[in-house]
Amino acid sequence: MGKSIVVTGKGGSGKTVLSALIVKALMERVSGTILAVDADPNCNLDRALGVAVEQTVGSIREDMIDEITSLPGGMTKAEYLAYRTRECLVETDRFDLIAMGRPEGPGCYCYANSILRQVVDKLAKEYDYVVIDCEAGLEHLSRRTAGRPDYLVVVVDPSVRSAETARRVVELTGSLGTPVGQTLIVANRCRDGLSPAVRKVLQEGNLQVAAEVPEDENVRALDDAGESLLKVPQDSPAYRAVRQILQQAGIAEAG
Ligand SMILES: Nc1ncnc2c1ncn2[C@@H]1O[C@H](COP(=O)(O)OP(=O)(O)OP(=O)(O)O)[C@@H](O)[C@H]1O
Ligand SMILES: [Mg+2]
Repeated sequence: MGKSIVVTGKGGSGKTVLSALIVKALMERVSGTILAVDADPNCNLDRALGVAVEQTVGSIREDMIDEITSLPGGMTKAEYLAYRTRECLVETDRFDLIAMGRPEGPGCYCYANSILRQVVDKLAKEYDYVVIDCEAGLEHLSRRTAGRPDYLVVVVDPSVRSAETARRVVELTGSLGTPVGQTLIVANRCRDGLSPAVRKVLQEGNLQVAAEVPEDENVRALDDAGESLLKVPQDSPAYRAVRQILQQAGIAEAG
């Protein structure tokens, strides 16, 4: 069973950027296999990683309702879902990507949801590293769709609201008894550190900032142009900071 790194935080705080840079750092610093999971219904981790997702796990659920009466080759529903889920994998030399898509349609998908959840969990176990880009908010954590993170990266941008979201995320993981290996509060888009107001909110929640990722012109330019963030230069400040975070957390070697 590999290490899971779950990236969460307020909308627009930089979850997708940091997820992509974490995948890049893992690609370069570790030798194990890597699975990136886009758990945001508005999938955009694929673009950030320079690949295109054609089918999401969510779309299988929709299809299944129509196809369920005529499963191919006498397959059980569970076998069929596992087979279809694997078709959603985008494979590259160094990492694979799977996108969860929309969690639910208007009908009742409880059965399919729970099977799909198990299939994705099982798939994730086949990799050494799993990086999950969550949707904004607490949905994945409260429904435990993000599983049990070894590393919970809580992204805070320089706004008070983002710090408040971080507090709620940490409180929620505590109250759910969701066992988290290490929680890493990462301040993103920092120019001159965090403001006193933001620091106060974090302190009140007993949250220590583990690392600061600076505002990075290269990241912004690539992202604005819809280009892969894997193209960020080695010495780009945000990427250096992400490598440092992985090193500090004991996930990857320095460099
Ligand atoms: N360190 C950084 N330097 C420069 N720009 C950044 C940085 N981090 C994030 N951005 C920019 O901020 C915007 C939001 O980032 P991103 O899409 O990663 O946020 P998100 O938390 O995934 O948003 P959402 O909640 O919508 O999924 C993007 O335009 C991105 O390019
Ligand atoms: Mg995002």
